[in-house]
Amino acid sequence: MEFEGRDIISIRDFSLEEIRYILDSALRMEARMAEELCLLEGRILACLFFEPSTRTRLSFETAMKRLGGRVIGFSKAGVASVAKGENLTDTIKTVANYADVIVMRHPREGAARLAAEVSDVPVINAGDGSNQHPTQTLLDLYTIKKEKGRLDVTTAIVGDLKYGRTVHSLAHALAMFGAGLILVSPPGLEMPPEVLSDLRELGAEVTRSSLEEAVREAEVLYVTRIQKERFPDPEEYEKVKGAYKITPETLTKAREDLIVMHPLPRVDEISPEVDLTRHARYFQQVRNGIPVRMALLALVLGAE
Ligand code: NCD
Repeated sequence: MEFEGRDIISIRDFSLEEIRYILDSALRMEARMAEELCLLEGRILACLFFEPSTRTRLSFETAMKRLGGRVIGFSKAGVASVAKGENLTDTIKTVANYADVIVMRHPREGAARLAAEVSDVPVINAGDGSNQHPTQTLLDLYTIKKEKGRLDVTTAIVGDLKYGRTVHSLAHALAMFGAGLILVSPPGLEMPPEVLSDLRELGAEVTRSSLEEAVREAEVLYVTRIQKERFPDPEEYEKVKGAYKITPETLTKAREDLIVMHPLPRVDEISPEVDLTRHARYFQQVRNGIPVRMALLALVLGAE
């Protein structure tokens, strides 16, 4: 399987076998985490974040450093030359001269694909607008596989299914693996029609449901934040904010082995009391981000 030099832009660019290969490679990385690895010694990662981030940026930086590599970059658009009017392609063509791999987050859908087209080095999409977030999906799959031993799990996806990029990537990947999907969203924030037809093409069993019913049936409850910053009209946000909240009471009818996941950051959609229940797995997701991103960096740089 060839990963060297490849861009990671959309989960749709990967076959089932390739996703399995990445997850296996992440498992091998995790087993070697205690060692001092130097697989990427002398290599440089550029992290270009035009949008806020905590986990994605810091975990890519950690992953690179754990592999012996170094990191350059910026964490907000205001400090880069875009603030002077530079266009994205000039920024990318420049940074491709400095780094061996670029991780980029950008508010515009399609920005990562555009960057990959003009870059001589691999580009990894760390989120482009409300479109895709493939590396989050890979760590989500890694978490589900570890927790459940399989990926054809009945998964309820709850929240902002319209603007949430993590759920667009995740729903596609889970459908590839034969998972049943239960969609729960406030009115107006439903899964976009093009994502739904893609899921149908994959033969996925997709239903819409209330939160209550979804909690009873699901093996995985994947909760997301309402993407306030993507609403064209702030009044529309006001209408849906706080529309759902997972508390220990919400979970009383859940299966014993239900796991609750969330890409984080959470705002108020999962109460902190849920953290203490047997269901919570969102901080495990955070932890799993490291071996998954180590594997991805090593693969695209031809070191794994
Ligand atoms: C997500 C994102 O940026 O899309 N965060 C993340 O990378 N874990 C989720 C979100 O912002 O709601």
